[in-house]
This record gives sequence, C-alpha cells and structure tokens, in this order.
Amino acid sequence: MDLTSNTPAQSAAPLKVAVILGSNREGRFGPVVADWFLGRAAEHPDIETELIDVAETEPPAAPATRISPRLAGADAFVVLTPEYNHSYPAPLKNLIDRHFSEWQAKPVAFVSYGGISGGLRAVEHLRQVFAELHAVSVRDTVSFHNAGALFDDRGRHRDPAQADGAAKRMLDQLVWWGRALRDARNRHPYGA
Ligand SMILES: Cc1cc2nc3c(=O)[nH]c(=O)nc-3n(C[C@H](O)[C@H](O)[C@H](O)COP(=O)(O)O)c2cc1C
Repeated sequence: MDLTSNTPAQSAAPLKVAVILGSNREGRFGPVVADWFLGRAAEHPDIETELIDVAETEPPAAPATRISPRLAGADAFVVLTPEYNHSYPAPLKNLIDRHFSEWQAKPVAFVSYGGISGGLRAVEHLRQVFAELHAVSVRDTVSFHNAGALFDDRGRHRDPAQADGAAKRMLDQLVWWGRALRDARNRHPYGA
C-alpha cells in the first residue's frame, strides 16, 4: 500500500465528527445545547456528525466497548461541556480517561455552557487533558453564559446570530485541522 499520498477521494470525504455530550445529570440542560449544535453542524457541508452521550457510559464500571469504536472511527471531536465547580463533569473525565489512541492526532473543539462563566474554565481544563492525549485543541469555541436564559422553552436560541457565527468559525477551524491530520495519519501512522 502506498502510504506516501492520499487519494483525492480520501482527502475530500466528509469529516466524521463525534459530538460528545459531557453531562449526565438528571434534568440536565445539555440536550438543549446538543440540539442547537447539531443543527448548526448539519448546515456545514464538510462534516457528518454522530452524538455520543456520556449518559450511555454509565455506570462507570460498564465496558466501554460500545463507545470505543465510535471514538476510534471519528476524525475529529466536539465536546459539549457545562462547568461544574470551575471545571468539567466527572463522567466526561471518565470517558476521556478510558481511551487513549482514539484521541491521538485528532482535533477537539469545544462548546461550553454554564452560569456566569459560560464554561470557559471547564474548556481550559479540557485543553490540558487533551494535550496529554496527543490531541489538538481548536482555538475558537462557542460559550453560552447563563445558558438557561438564552434559549426559549422549545430549545430555540432567542438571538442566535452571534452564536451561529461562532459555531461556523469553530467548525471551519475543526475541518481544517481534521482534514490535515487525517491526511497525515493516512500517510504515516501516528507514533506516540
Ligand atoms: C454541581 C454544579 C456546579 C456548578 N458550578 C458552576 C461553576 O463553577 N460555574 C458556572 O458558571 N456554573 C456552574 N454551575 C451551573 C451549570 O454550569 C449549569 O447549571 C449547567 O446548565 C449545567 O449543565 P447540565 O444542566 O447539562 O448538567 C454548576 C452547576 C452544578 C450542578
């Protein structure tokens, strides 16, 4: 097999993006953010998404076998995270820590939400964790400050223009990194 080049079809194929919903609290707000984000992602021509919900991985002792191949098959990730006590939720850390090669040499983008912080501190913690796993974090993020007030009872953003623009910029960066790293992995398996 020629490992020195990618076929045009390989390079142009839509990027497979695993969207990871990081909260599993009863009554959680996360699904509203997930629905909003999946709607924005569906408008992007270069990606196809699959939702992975950390609630599927509970109890923590359950085998990770259902989730692992889905993470391994993804070219890129978007983590949707709330902020709990200035960081991200424990079930999300558990999902991250139970995998290693699945994250390597792939880009990770973040959509965060919370109270006044908008989840920004959770995202900065996640950047450190994913660096240890040889993943590349995307610079631009989407953050929802006082998230509950931004969406109506039907889960629609009340004033979406700014957030939609932020999502587009973030996804454009994710696609650039995702394609570049997918091509590179196809040429040379990542050795860590
Ligand atoms: C245990 C706990 C800790 C929280 N800590 C923070 C925090 O440090 N900063 C913040 O801005 N919001 C904080 N919040 C607010 C949450 O980010 C907000 O309620 C968010 O919607 C929670 O996500 P979820 O509903 O999907 O679980 C906290 C909420 C909980 C339940």
